[in-house]
Amino acid sequence: MPEALRLEGVRAGYGATVVLEDVGFSLAERDALAVLGRNGVGKTTMLATIMGLTTFHAGRIEFRGRSVDRLAVHERSRLGIGYVPQTRDIFPSLSVEENLAVAGRPGRWSQERVYDLFPRLAERRAHMGNQISGGEQQMLAMGRALMGDPSLLLLDEPLEGLAPIIVDTLLAAIQRLAREESLTVVLVEQSAKLALEVTDQALVLNRGRIVYSGSSAELLADPERLGSLVIAG
Ligand SMILES: Nc1ncnc2c1ncn2[C@@H]1O[C@H](COP(=O)(O)OP(=O)(O)OP(=O)(O)O)[C@@H](O)[C@H]1O
Ligand SMILES: [Mg+2]
Repeated sequence: MPEALRLEGVRAGYGATVVLEDVGFSLAERDALAVLGRNGVGKTTMLATIMGLTTFHAGRIEFRGRSVDRLAVHERSRLGIGYVPQTRDIFPSLSVEENLAVAGRPGRWSQERVYDLFPRLAERRAHMGNQISGGEQQMLAMGRALMGDPSLLLLDEPLEGLAPIIVDTLLAAIQRLAREESLTVVLVEQSAKLALEVTDQALVLNRGRIVYSGSSAELLADPERLGSLVIAG
């Protein structure tokens, strides 16, 4: 598989503050990557850096073989990087339908295809963004990102605070995007086990550095190591 994403020696943060130190990994197209680690280790900063939302100090970011680390956020987005931030960016005073419509770009996705992925959203299409549940807001945030027709989808803790049944729906949708829609997915998650079950590769961050990089299945099969990396580490 060709490469979707490559980071080399990435050093980035907020202004003079450096959060990520020497972060490097590569991800093949259509693979799903779990990014794990405790609170405050730099998971969100890593996604934001790939998107161009932080201060980039050094290193290299390649998206499908092309250097993107000097490109503006909207240019990365136009090339096919989709980002669903931890804050679930949706417009509270627009309807579900309108939220999807304003995110639309010509490509493989339509509102109907988003509703096919998330039937609950179809039932809520006329509701305002602030009238739907947290799980539905997360589906809408993902739907909005898909409407931009990404080939790489960056998801920041999409399962946070959601009921188990909604978590299952979202995990199934994420797997479907990788398997049937050929998307490359980066999934930041606190629930390590859930994330490892639906991904091929995993990274664990600690204090802005990568402390594990390898197969998800291998880490899942080694609870002791997983515990030391993610919980105690
Ligand atoms: N806008 C900002 N300006 C300055 N420092 C920030 C900013 N956002 C985050 N940080 C700092 O960067 C570090 C990494 O934060 P980040 O949000 O990337 O962690 P995280 O792994 O996503 O945590 P969580 O699991 O709580 O979401 C923390 O020390 C945090 O205080
Ligand atoms: Mg975060």
